[in-house]
Amino acid sequence: MKTSYDVLIIGTGIAGLSAALALPKTLNVLLIAKDYAWECNTFYAQGGVAVAKDDADIALHVKDTLEAGAGHCNAEAVNVLCAEGPRAISKLIDSGFEFDKDASGQLLYTKEAAHSTNRILHAGGDATGRYIHLFLMQQLPFPILYNTQVTDLLIKEGECFGARVFHNDKIFNLYAKKVIIASGGVGSLYEYHTNARTISADMQGICLSHGIQLDDMEMMQFHPTVFVLGKSVRKQLLSESLRGEGAMIVDEDGKRFVFEYDKRGELAPRDVVSRAIFGHKQKTGKNVFLDLSAFSPEHFKERFPSIYFNMQNMGYDVPAQRVPISPAFHYSMGGIKTNLHAEVLHVKDLYAIGECAHTGVHGANRLASNSLLEGLVFALRVAHAVEISIDNAKEVCLFSEEEHALMQENDKTLKNELRDLMWCYAGILRNKEGLGKAYERVEAMLKLPIGRLLTLRLLVSKEIITSALRRKKSLGAHYLSERKM
Ligand code: SIN
Repeated sequence: MKTSYDVLIIGTGIAGLSAALALPKTLNVLLIAKDYAWECNTFYAQGGVAVAKDDADIALHVKDTLEAGAGHCNAEAVNVLCAEGPRAISKLIDSGFEFDKDASGQLLYTKEAAHSTNRILHAGGDATGRYIHLFLMQQLPFPILYNTQVTDLLIKEGECFGARVFHNDKIFNLYAKKVIIASGGVGSLYEYHTNARTISADMQGICLSHGIQLDDMEMMQFHPTVFVLGKSVRKQLLSESLRGEGAMIVDEDGKRFVFEYDKRGELAPRDVVSRAIFGHKQKTGKNVFLDLSAFSPEHFKERFPSIYFNMQNMGYDVPAQRVPISPAFHYSMGGIKTNLHAEVLHVKDLYAIGECAHTGVHGANRLASNSLLEGLVFALRVAHAVEISIDNAKEVCLFSEEEHALMQENDKTLKNELRDLMWCYAGILRNKEGLGKAYERVEAMLKLPIGRLLTLRLLVSKEIITSALRRKKSLGAHYLSERKM
């Protein structure tokens, strides 16, 4: 197998695939997927892609994003996202992708929480991510190396030369002039999450191990409406667009209690609604439900076909029957610090885009459906940055093919303990005492004989905990509680 490339792209979600598609076809590009290419968060994205509907809406999209972000966004990054969003969407549509349209052929826009207008495009009803992913895969002109675990980046003296990978029971180096990380977030660090099973913070951990800066790692977003059965055994995201179109959050007595927490009720930003549900459950010890009675069965089945079939399969006769819900970890606003050209700070030829990256675009709480847009916009930016700076004469620097013990005997048990620890102490509500406990346990685990992959998870967990300990006041998704933990 060839081991030298122009560009290596780690990850095959919307960001990685779109970056590959925007690169010149003359380049020698390899994409790396940890599992099947579709085992990524993009594939499971339901609601849609937020985009300004016209020039006048750009300023409003900026305002909504800044407000949801609790004043913690990088305003320049938000301007880039909202102003370049329409072009990125037009490019996707021009290449043949079809968003849902009404009978007269006009694009259908839905509404989600904290958006002041309907500006969410969707496809396949509630299967936007899956449709986009399949479409991008069909266009891809470059190969993908499947079932490949990245174990390290090849970095020397502030320059990146490729990645070390585990594939077909072997560890070997893949050399490249440029490396783009597009590997997604950190879902598997938490007991309850909505993410694909491949999303486990490896690349963030590898970056930390090289002293690369991660920013805002205390900013973890919890989606308010997830159907969870058992410990992450079965889970089903119940898209925010359901609430945008009339679904209500109720307690066992049918009371819409979210208004007691925020006057916007179900359409308050995600962090607010998640805390309201979590708090109400803790206070009353009772279940909380998503009431779908606003939808007729015919309309529900047509508009939300995936949710309809999945919930029916799990024994819920939706929309007639209400569904028990719980908040679950959904998205990491924090990530590998980059500039607005997706360049990782202080490491030449290394880039990061999508959820793994931190440009500051989401601040302390991401606005619903801004993440697929971010993937599209920053994919175009990174492709441009790579194309104009690629050095065909770059000299290869050879690295040893050092073996890492990827896993050790006790790793599975410790991984499960870590997920519980993060959920309880670095989750929706935090306090100094709980974070302190979590920190001590993570430090202790790091001293045990453990494999490389668990070490990487622990490094990222420690970063989340220390960032949370550093932030002394509640802000957005980082919420400090008085309650004893
Ligand atoms: C959803 O459909 O609720 C998820 C959308 C998002 O996370 O932006």
